[in-house]
Amino acid sequence: MKNSRASAPGKIILFGEHAVVYGRPAIAVPVNDVQAVATLTEAEPGAGFRLIAPDLGRDEQLPDVSPDDPLGTMIGLTLDYLERPEIPDAILTVRSTIPLGRGLGSGAAVSTAIARAIGQYFGRSLPPAVVSALVYDVEKLYHGTPSGIDNTVVAFNQPVYFIKGRPIRRLRVAQPLTLVIADTGVVAPTHKVVGDLRRRWQADPAGHERFFDAIGGVVEKGRALIETPAAGIAELGALMNENQTILRTIGVSSPELDDLVEAARRAGAMGAKLSGAGWGGNMIALATTQNAPAIAEALDKARAVNVIVTKVIDH
Ligand code: PMV
Repeated sequence: MKNSRASAPGKIILFGEHAVVYGRPAIAVPVNDVQAVATLTEAEPGAGFRLIAPDLGRDEQLPDVSPDDPLGTMIGLTLDYLERPEIPDAILTVRSTIPLGRGLGSGAAVSTAIARAIGQYFGRSLPPAVVSALVYDVEKLYHGTPSGIDNTVVAFNQPVYFIKGRPIRRLRVAQPLTLVIADTGVVAPTHKVVGDLRRRWQADPAGHERFFDAIGGVVEKGRALIETPAAGIAELGALMNENQTILRTIGVSSPELDDLVEAARRAGAMGAKLSGAGWGGNMIALATTQNAPAIAEALDKARAVNVIVTKVIDH
């Protein structure tokens, strides 16, 4: 019996969210502690294509999958890319430990795992650039004006310095970074936060362009520090704080995010900020190996619904 299995990591944005939609650079890294996994198993002839996603409470035959469904779209796009007009008799099972709508790239990871599993099923190993482009097409349909950073970092599974529309630039992580990631538990759809900011940008383009320039400056400094061996980690933390101040000013933080950011800083984090679209979702704090447990505990006490301690390393 033919079968295949593929996985994809979650991600966080270290610097530059939102401004990246307006052409500024951003830095994102994969988070392998959380994963989306897709398996495709051959079924008896005539069984059709069944999609099972237990975390989403879904169990459907493909023709019944709604036409405006991201998973169904990804399946269709991948089969088109592989020039397979016929839908195989198979069961696609998708599982994910990446919480939905919390800025950890769950949508991009699920799409990536699906594309790879279908590719492998037909004996094809899809290159990361192809997977990234397919996933981007899905993101465009469902998220309005995505920058493309999520699909890039997830499909390539490596730290990236990203500018919309430009070829991927690899980021060298000169020294491992310890991060504590904490979830506010608040679901905030990315397209809503991005759309809201777009309306404010339309009302005051010059003012917002200045904020985006300031974020771009933070990203460039952050990149230099991350790529320099023995660079000051405290300086990197200060840049995260600076980025968070601007994100608050442009209205994408939230009281829950601000509370967790504050709790992490009080517990000794070198810096902390929201990560992703904001209004909810996750925040990140820069820690050391030594103080990460204390920061994690403080975030727990500050009512984070989930806390992950992770290391960003060079790939
Ligand atoms: O998908 P999220 O929630 O991690 O947010 C993506 C980051 C944004 O810059 C807000 C949007 C984008 O398309 O880059």
